[in-house]
Amino acid sequence: MFLFALCLYLGKLVSSGVSLEFRYHNTVEVERYLRDVNNTFDFTHLHSIGKSVEGRDLWVLILGKNPAEHRMGIPEFKYVGNMHGNEVVGRVLLLQLIDHLTRGYLSDPLVTRLLNSTRVHILVSMNPDGFESSSRDCMYSQGRFNKNGIDLNRNFPDAFSKKESGMTEMEVRAIMDWLKTESFVLSANLHGGAVVASYPYDNSNGGSELQSGSSVAPDNDVLIQLAKTYSYTHSQMHKGDHCYDSKDFMEGITNGYYWYPLPGGMQDYNYVWGQCLEITLELSCCKYPPESDLPGLWDANRAALLAYMQQVHLGVKGQVLDAEGNPSQNALVEVEGRQNLCPFRTDRHGEYYRLLLPGNYTFRVTFPGHQVLTETLTVPYGPDSFSALVHNFQLQRSAAATPGPSRPTQSCTPPQVWRPLGGHSSSLGPSGGTILLVLLVLRDTMLL
Ligand SMILES: *[C@@H]1O[C@H](CO)[C@@H](O)[C@H](O)[C@H]1NC(C)=O
Ligand SMILES: *[C@@H]1O[C@H](CO)[C@@H](O)[C@H](O)[C@H]1NC(C)=O
Ligand SMILES: *[C@@H]1O[C@H](CO)[C@@H](O)[C@H](O)[C@H]1NC(C)=O
Ligand SMILES: [Zn+2]
Repeated sequence: MFLFALCLYLGKLVSSGVSLEFRYHNTVEVERYLRDVNNTFDFTHLHSIGKSVEGRDLWVLILGKNPAEHRMGIPEFKYVGNMHGNEVVGRVLLLQLIDHLTRGYLSDPLVTRLLNSTRVHILVSMNPDGFESSSRDCMYSQGRFNKNGIDLNRNFPDAFSKKESGMTEMEVRAIMDWLKTESFVLSANLHGGAVVASYPYDNSNGGSELQSGSSVAPDNDVLIQLAKTYSYTHSQMHKGDHCYDSKDFMEGITNGYYWYPLPGGMQDYNYVWGQCLEITLELSCCKYPPESDLPGLWDANRAALLAYMQQVHLGVKGQVLDAEGNPSQNALVEVEGRQNLCPFRTDRHGEYYRLLLPGNYTFRVTFPGHQVLTETLTVPYGPDSFSALVHNFQLQRSAAATPGPSRPTQSCTPPQVWRPLGGHSSSLGPSGGTILLVLLVLRDTMLL
């Protein structure tokens, strides 16, 4: 008994080697902390998804029962902080969240269930250069932008904006590449300067999505539910704090476009091209509050951050299997009444994830050489069981040659973006652009 107690005590001493105070940590300190976590807990995995303009790594910590790689049926979730370098509360909260998750795994029941059922990716700072150049000031600071003076939340390809996108910043390119390596299902992007949960779309070109001043996405019902999950689990947000002079936010949520049109934003990019539902969380009126406010901010947000993660288990998930029973990559999995700008597709494991509220839904699955499959499914519950309803679609071969996907997919090739290619980027003229576009369309067609 005594030995057992001694072991527990020693174990505590060892694990307390990784500790986190309530203060602002600079880039070097954050990296040291993340490396400590990675070395201490075998349910974490640390990697860099790219570098900032000034060469700082964009570290992502993954937490989960099998952190190093995707497992069948385990949805991928992410939080991204500090995209605007001077909006620092999200950065602090994500570090505290890592601390909470690592302490709680296998002791706290909620944390344990979350990490056993979900792979959680945390990018503490998307804009470390901006953070390092910020001053501790509530309102405006140049640290919002990256080293090139670019607002990263205006630099993504935009489905609604026809204008040729300019140079894609390194931090944005890193996120776009990251979205190709993992099939993220749900995400949130943490900001400051208001207190509200803002959901897609952020932009519109005046088409049918524009309704009463809002830009309404096909999954509007789910997006509102996601935003409300955060605002009502948060201690204050649902009360609608209007901070200085921003709008009154009923229930602490808003459609992004209704608040203000925003071209080139990250959440629309995630939703349209990453088939990942993302919302934007504005977490404090003051963008860079005094350190003494940080414990209170963590208390106000802790339960909301956890409840939001659990929403990744809404709806239906499973595989699409071809006539031979093999997983089908790039099959279209569409839900009637939800015309996504780019139809959702199965990933390289033939898997799909579809966040839906409880109810009945008609699915339509399309894959070349096979009959179009239509099935109605009942989603019986929300995220309470830490697993979406599991349903595999079994396809039958078609006698006649079936056309490919039900709709042309060219529109789902993100607008051409120029990679910085040393000094050559500006020499890519219109003809180079045309070739690139043709190649992109070709590649998209071949992926069927
Ligand atoms: C994370 O920890 C593992 C195991 O200790 C180690 O092999 C790996 O190099 C670490 N990763 C980083 C980025 O430090
Ligand atoms: C979580 O997974 C661990 C490791 O496999 C297991 O020991 C534990 O019982 C699981 N707990 C829950 C609540 O699922
Ligand atoms: C869903 O379908 C089931 C079975 O057909 C039916 O009993 C139920 O009322 C439907 N639910 C809704 C919300 O339409
Ligand atoms: Zn911001």
